[in-house]
Amino acid sequence: MKVLAVSGSLRSGSYNTLLLRAAAEAAPAGVELELWEGIGDLPLYDQDLDAGDVPEPVSRLRADWGAADAILFATPEYNGSVPGVLKNAVDWGSRPRLEAPLLNKTVTVVGASPGQFGALWAQADLRKALGVAGARVVGDELPVTRANEKFDSAGRLLDEELHGRLSLLLETLAAEAAPAVAA
Ligand SMILES: Cc1cc2nc3c(=O)[nH]c(=O)nc-3n(C[C@H](O)[C@H](O)[C@H](O)COP(=O)(O)O)c2cc1C
Repeated sequence: MKVLAVSGSLRSGSYNTLLLRAAAEAAPAGVELELWEGIGDLPLYDQDLDAGDVPEPVSRLRADWGAADAILFATPEYNGSVPGVLKNAVDWGSRPRLEAPLLNKTVTVVGASPGQFGALWAQADLRKALGVAGARVVGDELPVTRANEKFDSAGRLLDEELHGRLSLLLETLAAEAAPAVAA
């Protein structure tokens, strides 16, 4: 099963991107995680652009997200919500309404911040937006608090318990996506 991993941060040292790399290490047998790095290439959503031939980064998003068996999102929290770059990607992924790559896609959400709440508000807002876009949002929130203490200088995850929670979440994601993949 192929799971796309989408980070909502463009920052080179992003904890959310490190979290997705750690998730790839924690993936159960049969689940392959691939980091999708196109969100920074997308234009700002504009319905005028979303007619006829869409810009190449948009068609790439729609092809890649549409072909994925499931998607794992990792969101930072900016001012209590989802960063604009990630919400913008979700908006592109939510159209055309009846053929949208997010429609009926099995997805889950994690989030990391250096603070004590682990991007919990951003995760809740992202789950809401994905649900409105027609995705099947599964699994529980996974707030990674004090993210600056969770990785070593090479970016490897230091927290065994978190490794286990990522593994369990991916098991849930794969189990929920399996019927749709088999159909
Ligand atoms: C514009 C901006 C707003 C932020 N707002 C919040 C916030 O509301 N809550 C929070 O926990 N952290 C907030 N932060 C701190 C981020 O959690 C921190 O920069 C984090 O490392 C970003 O995720 P990344 O490491 O994946 O890039 C904010 C950072 C920026 C740049």
